[in-house]
Amino acid sequence: MIVLILETTCDETAAAVVSDQLEVKGAVVASQHDLHQRFGGIVPEIASRAHVERILPVIDETLRRAGITLADLGAVAVATQPGLAGSLLVGLTAAKTLCVALDIPLVAVNHLQAHVYACRLADGPGVFPCVALIVSGGHTSLYHCAGPLDFTLLGSTIDDAAGEAFDKVASLLGLPYPGGPAIQKAAAGGNAKAARFPRAFLGQDERLDFSFSGLKTSVRYHVERLRAKRPDGQLSAQEIADVAASFQAAVVDVLVDKSLAAMRQTAAETLCVGGGVAANAALREALAAAAEKAKFRLSIAPLRLCTDNAVMGAIAIERIRAGLYEELDLDVTPGLVRT
Ligand code: KG4
Ligand code: ZN
Repeated sequence: MIVLILETTCDETAAAVVSDQLEVKGAVVASQHDLHQRFGGIVPEIASRAHVERILPVIDETLRRAGITLADLGAVAVATQPGLAGSLLVGLTAAKTLCVALDIPLVAVNHLQAHVYACRLADGPGVFPCVALIVSGGHTSLYHCAGPLDFTLLGSTIDDAAGEAFDKVASLLGLPYPGGPAIQKAAAGGNAKAARFPRAFLGQDERLDFSFSGLKTSVRYHVERLRAKRPDGQLSAQEIADVAASFQAAVVDVLVDKSLAAMRQTAAETLCVGGGVAANAALREALAAAAEKAKFRLSIAPLRLCTDNAVMGAIAIERIRAGLYEELDLDVTPGLVRT
């Protein structure tokens, strides 16, 4: 069976065509970064309007790349949770319309499970059971995953997501959106010990939650102090690099510390890491070192599958194998459902 997968949870309009043997036949990601850049973050209303404009051309181009037509599809899958309500609705409406028109079944994808499935696609079914760290613009959570569709929440951020902190700190430093790649680049020339920023809950092993709002505020005060020292109020390139590196180190420290605590508590043998922030080179390096030291298997999503894409929605094939199809009155679930 050939399945079309749609992904419109946030600010990427993406589609993929995947076979029931998990072979990716074609995929497209249309990013909206240019539209949100001047706001330093995602504007939900702009995101949903852009999805409406892009979804049909993205589907057409994906089918073209896969060398198939609509008539070849056996099912349509779509990410229905969690995400921005308006954005999710565009994908779900497109998916339902295709299902009605083609008389084929609808499959729901949980976007967070899909981020972990990116690791499964790269490293095979043996990654389960695992602990999963999902670290993105909207989420920072640890799960125990007994299987691809069987997740138990271990802990999550009590305020901002890590990616959101990257985006906000980048905006404070005058760096472009999305902030993650910009901070990573700036940090390359910086001293990670130049400023000592807070690391919430570090070493409190029993607590698997995260908090990044205190870190963000601390960076803001630090930047204001640096600005006040300069006649033009502008930070030097070196100061920007130092703040970026020190901030990034603080985020990496807590993400690694909490992942290690979750591994110890669950006695899991594999740690899967997915989501946009999993693309961060410093995080990937620190996790690899931690995994080697603590002797567990590490599966980090390949770079192309870290930020939002529809290929990771191939978790739909697991639902199809389990006979999990949806009715056409299915609704979106924007918020995080605590399982
Ligand atoms: O998974 P994703 O595309 O969307 C959500 O589901 O939220 O993640 C986007 C987030 C943004 O906050 C972006 O700044 C961050 O991932 N990001 C990074 C890097 N690349 C993307 N953060 C740190 N380092 C990176 N290299
Ligand atoms: Zn995501």
